[in-house]
Amino acid sequence: MNIEALNKQFENATAEDLMQYFLREYKGEIALSSSLSYEDQVLTDMICNIDKSTRIFTLDTGRCFPETYSLIARTNARYEIAIEVFFPDHEKVEQMVREHGINLFYESIEKRHLCCQIRKLEPLARARKGLKVWICGLRRQQSVTRKDMQMVEYDEANNLIKLNPLINWTEDEVKQYVKDHGVPYNKLHDKGFPSIGCQPCTRAVEPGEDIRSGRWWWEDPDHRECGLHVK
Ligand code: ADX
Ligand code: SF4
Repeated sequence: MNIEALNKQFENATAEDLMQYFLREYKGEIALSSSLSYEDQVLTDMICNIDKSTRIFTLDTGRCFPETYSLIARTNARYEIAIEVFFPDHEKVEQMVREHGINLFYESIEKRHLCCQIRKLEPLARARKGLKVWICGLRRQQSVTRKDMQMVEYDEANNLIKLNPLINWTEDEVKQYVKDHGVPYNKLHDKGFPSIGCQPCTRAVEPGEDIRSGRWWWEDPDHRECGLHVK
């Protein structure tokens, strides 16, 4: 498949048109991975308008905010869907905590990556089994680490197409869509949390501050990725 040609084909298309094409072409082999962020809620709304049988899954690290769990329930009720929830391997979590402590991530980048590996990456690998297309809510404007990402990418390591339908959207466009369509969203967004991950690794930011500056705030901005989106 020609990824460059697909990017060209959808260069000026709307996110809805792009989704419509992929949800039809890859029915049964395509899924959205949702962190319940603003972006993922927009994509969930689009999916539910096009084909509700499409898989939507989330990775419950065990360290999410209560507001995020509440949003899973509200989203399921609103769209009459059942977001699949993937949990980490309990033995690996127990061993990690025994060896390094419950809040190991503050101690070093290596320990932070270990926690993300066990709580996010391993469950993601299980969640993506059998998929040909993985839909994500990434936007170029989110961070320096994302500025070169494409709408359609080929994830060689996992042999699947990675689709970023909102790659060119601004934060304002995302918020406007949520407002216009009455999409349920995380209450923390109204309390200074523009980007929400795990509770111990996310904090509120001041107005005007970089939107991802509240994520792993103690680390260097060039490395603030959990590994889900690192090539
Ligand atoms: S992260 O890598 O820093 O955690 P971010 O929160 O910006 O990622 O989310 C980017 C995209 O990664 C989301 O739109 C979603 O597709 C995917 N993602 C991130 N966290 C999760 C999660 N817990 N469960 C499922 N998908 C996730
Ligand atoms: Fe662990 Fe923090 Fe990564 Fe969540 S974001 S998996 S708590 S290191």
